[in-house]
Amino acid sequence: MSFYLIVGIAALGGLLFGYDTGVISGALLFIRTDFALSAGMQGLVAGIALAGAAVGAAFAGGLSDRFGRRWVIFFTGLIFIAGSLVAALAPEVMTLLAGRLLVGVGIGVASMLTPLYLAETAPARSRGALVSLNQLAITVGILVSYLIGYLFARHGEWRWMLALGAVPGVILSAGMLTLPETPRWLAGHGRMEEAGGVLRRLRGLGDIEAELSELRTDLLREGSLPSWRELLSPNVRLPLIIGVGLAIFQQITGINTVIYFAPTIFQAAGLSSASAAILATAGVGVVNVVMTLVSIRLIDSVGRRTLLLIGLLGMAACLLLLGLGFAIGGASGALGWITALSLAAYVGFFAIGLGPVFWLLISEIFPLYVRGRAMGIATIANWGFNLIVTVTFLELINIFGRPGTFLIYAILTVAAFIFTRALVPETKGRSLEQIEADLHARG
Ligand code: BGC
Repeated sequence: MSFYLIVGIAALGGLLFGYDTGVISGALLFIRTDFALSAGMQGLVAGIALAGAAVGAAFAGGLSDRFGRRWVIFFTGLIFIAGSLVAALAPEVMTLLAGRLLVGVGIGVASMLTPLYLAETAPARSRGALVSLNQLAITVGILVSYLIGYLFARHGEWRWMLALGAVPGVILSAGMLTLPETPRWLAGHGRMEEAGGVLRRLRGLGDIEAELSELRTDLLREGSLPSWRELLSPNVRLPLIIGVGLAIFQQITGINTVIYFAPTIFQAAGLSSASAAILATAGVGVVNVVMTLVSIRLIDSVGRRTLLLIGLLGMAACLLLLGLGFAIGGASGALGWITALSLAAYVGFFAIGLGPVFWLLISEIFPLYVRGRAMGIATIANWGFNLIVTVTFLELINIFGRPGTFLIYAILTVAAFIFTRALVPETKGRSLEQIEADLHARG
């Protein structure tokens, strides 16, 4: 069992995250006509799952501390199924919003607990690769949602697009019944013997004594600490600024305006039929997956910081090009394609840097004893700002026009570059203890 099952869970958690956030972009083209939605209402339909995700992320840590990672992930699968079906069958927009809110809660819980479950079950040496695999699964989930969107676009069957979100939910819940509780959680609840048993199952013939004694030391250390006050201590402050800063920058540089609204943007750029726009969007999805693979290959040799800096520069340049394209008069043929290419390149630069590096860094830079809570805060910030960007995007376009809006994202990307240059450490090839000691010395 062990390794492949863990990989399977990583894939499913990420797939759900990707599919259920990505699917709305194609569905929205038809929902907005069916329900005659205003720009603000379209933003809400796209964004409400993100509000749910922020709530889900806020409660995931506490609930799973109490009831176990396994059961909370199991129920998350059920929430996904319920939410997807409610949204798919919605007779009017309020029910649709309620269903998407429910799906969002599930996404938030999954985005936090998948990495946590992995970190607590994976062998230390493959933890980094597994965390990035989660991002790969997110991008595959987004791509699948685009392809499903394309398949069902011909007859405007947005209900099927949303209903299919229930499928990974079913697999996740069923899968969780076959997986064990994490050794870490069992040990934390005084069930040391069971923890040992699970570790033995997970590691096969490997030696588990060293891991068990590490677990005991961690628990002793954690038990003696006052909980939330620790987050304000000097050696946590700098990592928290970096983690929350990157969480915010990952969103306010505009990635999800493209991921969620790409077909709408493509239509504005001159690819007029809904199918052509959704197909071009699938191209963007492929670029996202392929460049994430490239990033995973480079992340341990070239380094996180370098990839982040290169990615941000590329994103800023593409955003300027996009703004320029729209300023010159984007809706003509050739210019439409230049716009489409800059959009794809922008996503590619995100995928080699800010996409995977953010999720990886927040699992690396926090001292162990506050890691869960600090990651929780960064995750909530990520979803919160995702929501803000998503609901304001269409309104921003109304106020500043397309060129102005993309220029704003370009300026924010330059700010992210300056922030990264000043604060973000290189963590490749260093132990988590070394990273912690360095950040402490600087903080
Ligand atoms: C981000 C998501 C985004 C996705 C795109 C993730 O790292 O957190 O907001 O939709 O990347 O691939």
